[in-house]
Amino acid sequence: IPVDPFDLVIFGGTGDLAQRKILPALFRRFCAGQWPDDAQIIGAARAEYTPDAFREVVAESLRSHAPAQSRNADALNTFLQRVDYVPLDALSDTAWDRLAAKLADDRVRAFYFSVGPQLFGQLAERIKHHDLATPKTRIVVEKPFGHDLESARALNATLAAHFSEGQIYRIDHYLGKETVQNLMAVRFGNMLFEPLWNSQYVDHIQITVAESVGIDGREEYYDRAGAMRDMMQNHLMQLLCLIAMEPPAKFDPDAVRDEKLKVIRALDPVEPHHIVRGQFDAGPSGAGYRDTVGNPRSTTESYVALRAHVSNWRWAGTPFYLRTGKRLIERSSVINVMFKDAPHSIFGADAGRHANVLSIRLQPNEGITLKVTIKEPGPGGMRLVDVPLDMSFAEALGSENQDPPDAYERLVMDVIRGNQTLFMRGDEVEAAWAWTDPIIAGWQARGDVPKPYDSGSTGPGDAELLMKRDGRRWQGIN
Ligand code: BG6
Repeated sequence: IPVDPFDLVIFGGTGDLAQRKILPALFRRFCAGQWPDDAQIIGAARAEYTPDAFREVVAESLRSHAPAQSRNADALNTFLQRVDYVPLDALSDTAWDRLAAKLADDRVRAFYFSVGPQLFGQLAERIKHHDLATPKTRIVVEKPFGHDLESARALNATLAAHFSEGQIYRIDHYLGKETVQNLMAVRFGNMLFEPLWNSQYVDHIQITVAESVGIDGREEYYDRAGAMRDMMQNHLMQLLCLIAMEPPAKFDPDAVRDEKLKVIRALDPVEPHHIVRGQFDAGPSGAGYRDTVGNPRSTTESYVALRAHVSNWRWAGTPFYLRTGKRLIERSSVINVMFKDAPHSIFGADAGRHANVLSIRLQPNEGITLKVTIKEPGPGGMRLVDVPLDMSFAEALGSENQDPPDAYERLVMDVIRGNQTLFMRGDEVEAAWAWTDPIIAGWQARGDVPKPYDSGSTGPGDAELLMKRDGRRWQGIN
């Protein structure tokens, strides 16, 4: 379904994110026929490109990042005709009139701030000052949304001085992933799971976002952020929210975000002995962290595992174990809902302990597996064995779904549609920082040094101990 006519201005249009993610996503949607006739993209950045030179840069990026679609020369050329460029410096008042001249009054007008957060205020102010904001204006901001609670509050206040909350789209690209949206479909579209989705039946929940990549090319940013700020505060927190939240009354932006916010606010502070920090050392998959960032004394974590508690009626007593790290043995994002054992085994002690596990694979091999207990075949009495009920989305949904659309395709189009459901609200981001800040402050106060783990391994051994102490073990990579 095509969206309304739009002008999309990408500040930082020559940058990495715009070239690698935003423009290819827009191009794919264009090829899918989702663009109306009256729509254009205007890149804006400091580089003194002519529109034609910018188009060449874009074409190059599309060939690398949307190769299948770019092979269609007609589509590529028609798309490029919809791309324009204005050299513009966020810190100066010149050239804004040139940008204004390219915008149409009656279209959706979206400004994508694909720049560092230090420029958000300047851009917001200049959009207002040069009279570029219309009632159909939206602004899109990327993470990191601040460095801590204080800076996130300041950013929210800066944006709120110029735009209403309904105009601000804060991106957490995990929410744009098909499989992440599917968490809501699985939970709230089936009668099967929801009655069991609470501490009475669920022993604990594991959320793993393991990456095999390192931090190459982003050393400076990453060494200031670390895994806690880069992944836990946002992506893992969002996954936790979707798994733990109450059913919203409807799938509408505030109903969904209200429920997510309640989860974050119900989180207990994390006890220091329930957190493991790690930093990768040299190993089978490459050099060590400190060599990579060129800082031999860096104590930034590239891995974090922790045990969280959502203190509310539904989840009291059911821990959530979250872990994420770089340079691990494989790329694998999985949520495991670990159900309790049956209350009584009629088959006696020999049958062993068996509990159902619902695994939701977010990436790769997107799908769902339910581990169920059955009788071991054979005449030798009643022995039990666990088998997987396995579903791969690609197989179940057919070949056109082999390759799920990139998160940005969904998110950028939702901006144009004016649907904020998959974007973070200001209070949500602040609540997530309010939970994260004391953890980081504790590390700093104690002079905590992350535990080393080999690059290409399963992470620091202490993460296993975190589970073992509770009589549990990680599923998947371990
Ligand atoms: C980004 C983080 O937000 O998400 C990166 O800054 C991380 O460090 C990336 O690699 C992971 O995203 P994906 O989509 O590859 O799982």
